[in-house]
Amino acid sequence: MSGEAGGCPAGTARGPDLTDPATYRDADYFAQWQRARRDHPVVRLESPRFGAFWSVTAHAAARQVLERPESFTSTRGMRLGGEPAAVSAASGRMLVVSDGPAHTRLRSAHAPWFAGQAVSRLKDALRSRLDALLADLADGSPVDVPARLARPLPTWLVCGMLGVPEEDWEELALLAAAAFDETETSTASARRAASAGVFAYFAELLEKRRADPGDDLVSALVHQPGGDRLTDEEILLTCDGLVNGGLGTTRHAVSGAVLAFAAHPRQWERLRADRGLVPTAVEEILRWVSPPLHIMRTATEDVLLGGARIRAGERVVLWIPSCNRDESVFAEPDAFRVDRRPNPHLGLGGGPHYCIGASLARLELRTLLRALLDHVARFESDPVLTRTPSTFLHGLDRLEVTLIPAADAAACSPAESEDP
Ligand code: HEM
Repeated sequence: MSGEAGGCPAGTARGPDLTDPATYRDADYFAQWQRARRDHPVVRLESPRFGAFWSVTAHAAARQVLERPESFTSTRGMRLGGEPAAVSAASGRMLVVSDGPAHTRLRSAHAPWFAGQAVSRLKDALRSRLDALLADLADGSPVDVPARLARPLPTWLVCGMLGVPEEDWEELALLAAAAFDETETSTASARRAASAGVFAYFAELLEKRRADPGDDLVSALVHQPGGDRLTDEEILLTCDGLVNGGLGTTRHAVSGAVLAFAAHPRQWERLRADRGLVPTAVEEILRWVSPPLHIMRTATEDVLLGGARIRAGERVVLWIPSCNRDESVFAEPDAFRVDRRPNPHLGLGGGPHYCIGASLARLELRTLLRALLDHVARFESDPVLTRTPSTFLHGLDRLEVTLIPAADAAACSPAESEDP
């Protein structure tokens, strides 16, 4: 990056390039964000990879952007590095890159599947699967958490909700991950091919569900009554959006949660002593891990933001992990605390695009924590850890942790009285 390089004012020490996926492997980007929040929370950057954009590291300014879609649109993409042709084909037809009435229409078609009751009926099945998995994993030997625990969990839920047959889950999850792969070995054409693979998969599933409907979201959308039903293309974009929105984010939240408790054993003890803290612990995980690294918008008009004058057409990038450590909002922002309250994190976004899968994500994390509390006495982490080289998703590709079994794990069963 040039100009105010990497989020540092010209003339001071340069920080790592926040638009280089490799930065997120091991550089101390949190220190860089801290300086940026203090010195220039809204600043124009120039990246060789992505060109010029406004970088926002402070919570208040980011929230303002998220809550004002009339001034900061999603229709020109919501992340750096999106394929322009794919964005313009999906714009106004896919939830995450729509605004105004088009967004409202698409969101109402999704909404019943993400309402409290629809989501809570998944809880028992999820808990049974987790019990079986943890009975196997919590045996005192090291576990690769992203592969063995964090990948299966969202795959069960998202693929289950979409009605993807179980034998296809693994293949679909791999295709979805390849479509967003930012490692050096991946190429734009490989990402395009993976993305086309996801679409082709759902095109076939859509035809199957048209002929033979099931109790799933694809069947419900294909057989939607009324004149304003989604077109087949919009249904395909919906499926793609749910797979992209629901798999990687939750996978990183799960691995990040395990790492947080392995690194903060007292917080695990605190949670074991008071299970009533599970809901606040879930919010703290979303703040601490912050799976989305950035969210992007494009200004539709000239607008003042945090003292900076942003011109119509300029892109604005909100660094979510930085906003979630903003010391003007969070007391002791660099402490992981399961009882943190209030916790107005932006891990699930804000404004009209606030994560539609939020209740599902919270259910997954609550159920995970309760299952872990029953099965695991403590976590022993190994230094073996690989962070994901991505500018979009903040997470771990590899993390070896030993789950030391709880003495009474064999007797555990899901508690009936716990909230949904
Ligand atoms: C821990 C897990 C999750 C995190 C951290 C997360 C994060 C986010 C964030 C930050 C946004 C806002 C994007 C923007 O403003 O442009 C968002 C939107 C969205 N999320 Fe999630 N998400 C999670 C889980 C899920 C799940 C489980 C699903 C569905 C199965 C899902 C589907 C979506 C969709 C479709 C949108 C677009 C909503 C809209 O534009 O109105 N997400 N998510």
